[in-house]
Amino acid sequence: MREISFTGLKQQYKEHRGEYNKIFDQVLENTDFIGAYNNQSICKTERAISDFISSRGSGDKLDICLCNSGTTSLYVLLMALGVGKGDEVILPDFNFIAALEAVLLLGANPVMVDVSPFSFMLDLEKAADAVTVKTKAVIYTDIFGRVFDPSQIDWFRSEIEKKNTSVFLVEDAAQSFGAYYRNKIGHVKVAGTYGDAAITSFYPVKPLGTAGEGGAVMSHDKKLIEKVRFIINHGAASKYNHQVLGFNGRLDVLKSEILRWNLQNVFVNDFDKREAVARLYDKLLSNYLASERFMFIGTCKVRSANAQYTLVLDDVLNRDAFIRELSQRYGIPCAVHYPASTLDVMLGIVPRNEIEYLSTKDNVTDKLCKSVFSLPIHAYLTVEDVLYICDSVNELYREFKNKKGL
Ligand SMILES: Cc1ncc(COP(=O)(O)O)c(C=O)c1O
Repeated sequence: MREISFTGLKQQYKEHRGEYNKIFDQVLENTDFIGAYNNQSICKTERAISDFISSRGSGDKLDICLCNSGTTSLYVLLMALGVGKGDEVILPDFNFIAALEAVLLLGANPVMVDVSPFSFMLDLEKAADAVTVKTKAVIYTDIFGRVFDPSQIDWFRSEIEKKNTSVFLVEDAAQSFGAYYRNKIGHVKVAGTYGDAAITSFYPVKPLGTAGEGGAVMSHDKKLIEKVRFIINHGAASKYNHQVLGFNGRLDVLKSEILRWNLQNVFVNDFDKREAVARLYDKLLSNYLASERFMFIGTCKVRSANAQYTLVLDDVLNRDAFIRELSQRYGIPCAVHYPASTLDVMLGIVPRNEIEYLSTKDNVTDKLCKSVFSLPIHAYLTVEDVLYICDSVNELYREFKNKKGL
């Protein structure tokens, strides 16, 4: 049986072991481990990320604050925006749990809204209907690495304005670092620049990863980022100069150094290689493609970061049995992003009488949770690997359909 790994992490660290060892040695030698306020390595990495996003085509210069995870980034961003008791925050129900955790931990009320059946991202029409005077923020996630058509976000903002209320738009770009949308006249909108602020994650297997946990808050609003920086430094501008309530949410220097090295030496190549794998999957698995990752509308296009390559299995077939067979018979590891809606997860972990929440009817999310599965996608898959995976998926799909008499 062919050996296929779900991620390319082992291969990446093996290939660049010499460089990573040098970075480790240097950081150990300097004993400059802590990424506190104005730390040189942290500032350098923040600038490198901002420059990269700007060079991706949008020219947008973001202010960036590195944090110790994507989850921390969401939490401190909402904290800096003043989200708290009695506020409502709108979230997509088909999502990783981090945004919901941040909302609940701050004592705010989550409003879980269904996703679009085409993009699997927040259904903006339903979200616009859900906005009330209590809504403090809307978080939309760039699921699996895709980004929105920016004109949809403009429309969404105008719908909110009609309600005479002010709402912070937060882009969760944890899965979409480097992704972009190019419109008909060639204007490019890059992940991280869509809302009033954005977060991303540098978890090792994210499009841009480090050797451990990591994340960032990004915004054009300098003052907001300055607030975030205070919060993650114990609310202090310098040692013991505490000014607001904060905690320790900083990124370590070691991770900052590896992150910057990965950005400057691995990221673009990996991004393009994942794209090549995704296009080959598209070609060979067209039967299963639930939605287009590459949307050509005239000359407009979405270029996904391909954090995941996710398929939707016909709902009459048993998804869990299908991926078990793929693993046991063919040695192809798969994952399910996500097996349950955030609403269902929340109801399983927080007593009902302790939370105030709202939820729209979740037809799409519930269907996706039962039918999605993600295939391996990374820069170290060979063409032969992808052909093997596609042949196996096709063979198993035919077998499952035959068994059902379809
Ligand atoms: C959409 C989304 N948001 C937030 C996070 C949290 O990031 P981290 O794992 O760095 O805390 C993740 C991580 O998987 C994610 O996928």
